Amino acid sequence: MLSYRHSFHAGNHGDVLKHWVLVTMLDYLNQKDKPYWYIDTHAGAGLYSLKSVYSQKIEEHLGGIGQIWSNQSLPESLARYASVINGIDSSKNRYPGSPIIAKSLTRLSEKLRLFELHPADYKKLRDNSGKDRRIKVENEDGLKALKGLLPPPTKRGLVLIDPSYEVKAEYSKVINTLKEGMQRFAIGVYAVWYPLLNQVDNIQFQQRLEKLEGMKWLNLQLRVDNATGAEGMYGSGMFIVNPPWQLLNNAEENLSCLANLLGVEGRGDFRITDSGNL
Ligand SMILES: C[S@@+](CC[C@H](N)C(=O)[O-])C[C@H]1O[C@@H](n2cnc3c(N)ncnc32)[C@H](O)[C@@H]1O
Repeated sequence: MLSYRHSFHAGNHGDVLKHWVLVTMLDYLNQKDKPYWYIDTHAGAGLYSLKSVYSQKIEEHLGGIGQIWSNQSLPESLARYASVINGIDSSKNRYPGSPIIAKSLTRLSEKLRLFELHPADYKKLRDNSGKDRRIKVENEDGLKALKGLLPPPTKRGLVLIDPSYEVKAEYSKVINTLKEGMQRFAIGVYAVWYPLLNQVDNIQFQQRLEKLEGMKWLNLQLRVDNATGAEGMYGSGMFIVNPPWQLLNNAEENLSCLANLLGVEGRGDFRITDSGNL
């Protein structure tokens, strides 16, 4: 079942959290000369019009990147995220997805492996990736394919796992993928995005992530509506294995700013937890 289309949601609060973390992680990896691989298991189309019928339908970006664009005094790390987004499309008519953000921040020495299962978004992703010999785009299941890519030849890598969670089985698949990934490539950086929902499976998934053993992790949650029983997606989380210290150091300042800016009628909130061995 592939009914999810990210074009409806591009630039929303979930993307802001995810892509701010992504930019911070790529900046961290770029501090060393040694090349790395960027693997995006659920890459999406790569670039989204904010003027399309999809985007205009629910205008989720107004409560996400729209709030970032209208704020002049962001903490340094969020300002850096905003400048990367604006550097890709200064017109503010389009919002980039994870693969195009990664394309813009990676160096000539890096390799990008992008997976997208939806045929239409796969085609768009190929077009949006352009003729770039560093990039390989595959119309395959990214979770299944990941195993075969680990460890990357450079022994440095960032894996972004960003499913749409249309099917509840995806929760278990993500947990198993993380475990298998760590067995093959324990020093890799892994980042899993997930929605916050008032649903049993979702709550259990959050608990299972935080019970993963033998890993160093940081879990960042941004709630845009902390009302008990909020319907639909009331926030999202990024679970990062082997997180760069920059994220740990500046998470509170940036999440508190995001909760203020993106919270619905003052109901924004955040939560930071870690494995205790960072
Ligand atoms: C949340 S969107 C990705 C957004 C993107 N990572 C970003 O940040 O811009 C999830 C995407 O995964 C695709 N997808 C779903 N199941 C997949 C699978 N097993 N392997 C690869 N792609 C999949 C969907 O078609 C959708 O485009």
